[in-house]
Amino acid sequence: MRQVKLGVNIDHVATLRQARMEKNPDTVEAARVVYSSGGDMVVMHLRQDRRHIQDSDIERVRHEVKGLIHLEMAAIPEMEKLALRVRPDSVCLVPENPREVTTEGGLKLEGKQTELGKIIKNLSNAGIEVSVFTDPAPQAIRAAHNLGADSIELCTSKYSEAWGKKLQAKELEKLQLAGFLVKELKMHLHAGHGLDYYNVAPIARIEGMDCLNIGFSIISRAMFVGLKTAVAEMKRLIQ
Ligand code: PXP
Repeated sequence: MRQVKLGVNIDHVATLRQARMEKNPDTVEAARVVYSSGGDMVVMHLRQDRRHIQDSDIERVRHEVKGLIHLEMAAIPEMEKLALRVRPDSVCLVPENPREVTTEGGLKLEGKQTELGKIIKNLSNAGIEVSVFTDPAPQAIRAAHNLGADSIELCTSKYSEAWGKKLQAKELEKLQLAGFLVKELKMHLHAGHGLDYYNVAPIARIEGMDCLNIGFSIISRAMFVGLKTAVAEMKRLIQ
């Protein structure tokens, strides 16, 4: 049976720690629990304002825990430098708007091809797998493919926010078609943003889905059932 991998985003463990500027809750401890509860990958999003994950979180998880690390970051020289130093196993290039509460959609590639192409090439040459976070739009997917990305992470926020079955089905169809194109281009297919225990199953069942990256819903549920159970429950739902 095909296994959909689960990347668990632990940003909001760091959000809680940063609220008091304390040592706890510790992201290294969170990463250990993720790996031992069925999570395939620890995901961290390093933002320019460092409001949750700090550079030291990525360094410590890299050096103190054995397992795959996936870094989400803006496609800018500062982040490229950090990635080349810390060497996560994979990176996802995402847009970043300084005032956003969370990522607001896929990366817009028009007009940025040259700089994006360089970053993708440098990361790839360092052995880091590169994905690009895109809306389920054929032009964006083809552009990321032409720039040498290995994977596409489809942005599921419109699907997650869709109100009512009809609208949600429409958004799901866009993701399914986009997934078909990603596979036709022989790229890895990832998806994420806004996925939770209620809306995740149809996304996990998209033909060729390789990995889902999920954070907020898992960390929220962990408050009540513990991180181990929250990760294991999500893993079960996506099988
Ligand atoms: N994928 C990407 C590219 C993201 O930027 C984020 C948020 O950092 C996620 C997945 C996880 O989203 P959520 O926290 O809503 O599950």
